[in-house]
Amino acid sequence: MQDIWNRLKSHRRNQGTTRIPDLFTADPDRATNFCTKADGLVFDWSKTMIDAQARDLLLELTASAGIEARREAMFTGRKINETEGRAVLHSALRNLDGSVQVDGQDVMPALRDTHARMQAFARDVRSGSFKGQGGRITDIVNIGIGGSDLGPYMATLALAPYHDGPWTHFVSNVDGADIHDTLKGLDPETTLVIVASKTFTTIETMTNARTARDWMARTVADPAAQFVALSSAVDKTAEFGIDETRVFGFEDWVGGRYSVWGPIGLSLMLAIGPERFDEFLAGGAAMDAHFRSAPLAQNLPVLLALVGIWHHQICGYPTRAVLPYDNRLLRLPAYLQQLEMESNGKGVAMDGNDLTMPSGPVVWGEPGTNGQHAFYQLIHQGTSTVPCEFILAARGHEDELAHHHILLAANCLAQSEALMRGRNLDEARALMAAKGLEGPELERQARHRVFPGNRPSTTLLIGQLTPYTLGQIVVLYEHRVFVEGVILGINSFDQWGVELGKELALRVEPLLKGEPAPGHDASTEHLAGLFREMRG
Ligand code: F6P
Repeated sequence: MQDIWNRLKSHRRNQGTTRIPDLFTADPDRATNFCTKADGLVFDWSKTMIDAQARDLLLELTASAGIEARREAMFTGRKINETEGRAVLHSALRNLDGSVQVDGQDVMPALRDTHARMQAFARDVRSGSFKGQGGRITDIVNIGIGGSDLGPYMATLALAPYHDGPWTHFVSNVDGADIHDTLKGLDPETTLVIVASKTFTTIETMTNARTARDWMARTVADPAAQFVALSSAVDKTAEFGIDETRVFGFEDWVGGRYSVWGPIGLSLMLAIGPERFDEFLAGGAAMDAHFRSAPLAQNLPVLLALVGIWHHQICGYPTRAVLPYDNRLLRLPAYLQQLEMESNGKGVAMDGNDLTMPSGPVVWGEPGTNGQHAFYQLIHQGTSTVPCEFILAARGHEDELAHHHILLAANCLAQSEALMRGRNLDEARALMAAKGLEGPELERQARHRVFPGNRPSTTLLIGQLTPYTLGQIVVLYEHRVFVEGVILGINSFDQWGVELGKELALRVEPLLKGEPAPGHDASTEHLAGLFREMRG
């Protein structure tokens, strides 16, 4: 593989001063040759410096990383999460047919059973046959963090046009402001609290869950009766007092950031209904099928991964921006931050050796057009290159506001065009001359109006943001992360880096309370002292 990495790097060097627009001149069919369609999705990657030779080398790299074998190992329940000794089977949650064996056991009957229980419960809550102690459930509060929050939160916002169930709220932060502000307007007698935690030990979630229980106990005779648990730790949910009929469990082979497809998606199911939730699963399953069967050169997750590897590991661009031109995808960048950075932000390869390449990139973003009035300045004229990943739906949901949608789409396409083309000094001079400037002032002003251009972007075009297409998009990114991880030799399914934070917070807590807490550095002790002083 090292040889292919070397050839890729030397090809990049040999591209020299070639710019993206030059690739369109060299290949008149580039717009279609580097635009891949599958199952109603369009992925345009023509506005990058990947030419035919780079593409072929990247495909060779992917094949030689053993992606096909690794992919099958994942889908068939082999324990590819080697540092935790676990299978990686979240895909089974969205494709409930058939059988998959883990440790000689078919895991599918239990998944089907839990899914059916979730559906029945969601129907009861939505129809009003499951009641709070003050009547029909009006509000759902999902308490969870990380993967137990970001997935259902992101998807519930994204699918607002389909939301016909109770109001849904999400509490994640241990900052008391979060739960305080959420519960403030709610009626405990008609609120259902979902405690979403795979481990049922995460300190933020359990602290918020206890606060919610105390809040409810002040008004309601039997608060536990309005609590639901989504967890793998059934013993701990019982300890908390939640009846097993309202506990929806899942196995350890569903990673937190991959868990929206099963019980962790219950708040979404309650919001949009079991039928729409199944459409979300169907979209995800369709992308699984595509990923498993499409040739690498037409395989969308593989192509996204190749673009990612090209930009980060070969070109050295440190970050990538996800820019959905869809306001309802407000939380998608945050969701993808966890998915990508918790999965591939690692410095040690599967074999225990240090990575010889940079690990996954920093991922960030914000919906357009808002970002245009904030950070696009840097993307256009800053000194570092930020590959941009635009996402756009051909149709919105507000037919009566179609003109908004055209304007939104025009902005999206205009941005990628401007990033690629830029504006040279002569064009900027002409602009200033047209405004009546001349001499040194024209020259000075013109320089500020130069855009370097040659800034790469991709565009993912979908028909409309529906439960099905959202499912496709999320799985597209899941498998992209997987492919990048395989190419880099990373285990994308553990998260040891997060565990440290959990341990450290527990060690610092006594320091803040003024209790003996040896072993801290001078700065931390000093800050803790000031904190205590300033609290009075
Ligand atoms: O942040 C680390 C993490 O382990 C995530 O992977 C997970 O989604 C989150 O914590 C929440 O964990 P749990 O669902 O066990 O409360």
